[in-house]
Amino acid sequence: MPPTEIDGKYYLSYETIHRTVRGMADAIAASGFDADVIVAIGTGGYIPARILKTFLKKPILTVGISYYGADNKPAKTPHTIQWIDEVEQKLKGKKVLLVDEVDDSRVTLEYCLRELLSHKPSEIAVAVLHNKKKEKRGNIPAEISLYFVGEELEDRWICYPWDAIDIAAHQALARENAPATARPC
Ligand code: G4P
Ligand code: MG
Repeated sequence: MPPTEIDGKYYLSYETIHRTVRGMADAIAASGFDADVIVAIGTGGYIPARILKTFLKKPILTVGISYYGADNKPAKTPHTIQWIDEVEQKLKGKKVLLVDEVDDSRVTLEYCLRELLSHKPSEIAVAVLHNKKKEKRGNIPAEISLYFVGEELEDRWICYPWDAIDIAAHQALARENAPATARPC
């Protein structure tokens, strides 16, 4: 059941996210995709990737890509903050699970997938916590056979707990936001 909105935003707790990741891990295992390595897109993908590792028990490499500039507005194109350097060769012939928190415009995701493909992995699967149901500006390249989504959401701003300055206030909103059955008594 999707979260309800508060002032047009979704507030999600760490626990909800952990459960969503577990569901994704189950779906990945059920698909038979057995990744050699998880690649996390930073920074939003770091914590979901780490939780996935609890279930999938695979090593994590990270790439830092930002589509937003210092003014918090989207830049013309995503830019690389940090890329897998000497470990690039570790991708050749490997099965890669690319993890991010949200599939929004899909521009960052496409940029990252094309970079990864250039290193000749044997297969790439994508796993995102949330996909926003909207028209996408980026495309998932045809070579990508598997795409896992934790939850499909309407096109609203998602407030993740790791962005909270006041985690107690965030958590209170996330609790409001949770499906009624998930609320503590
Ligand atoms: P996409 O390819 O995965 O769809 O990402 P897109 O380029 O559209 O995303 C641009 C930036 O906006 C990304 O962060 C993404 O995490 C962030 N973003 C998009 N929608 C939401 C949302 O609803 N909530 C939050 N909290 N973030 C959102 P970034 O600036 O590139 O880097 P980072 O924040 O992951 O470090
Ligand atoms: Mg991100």
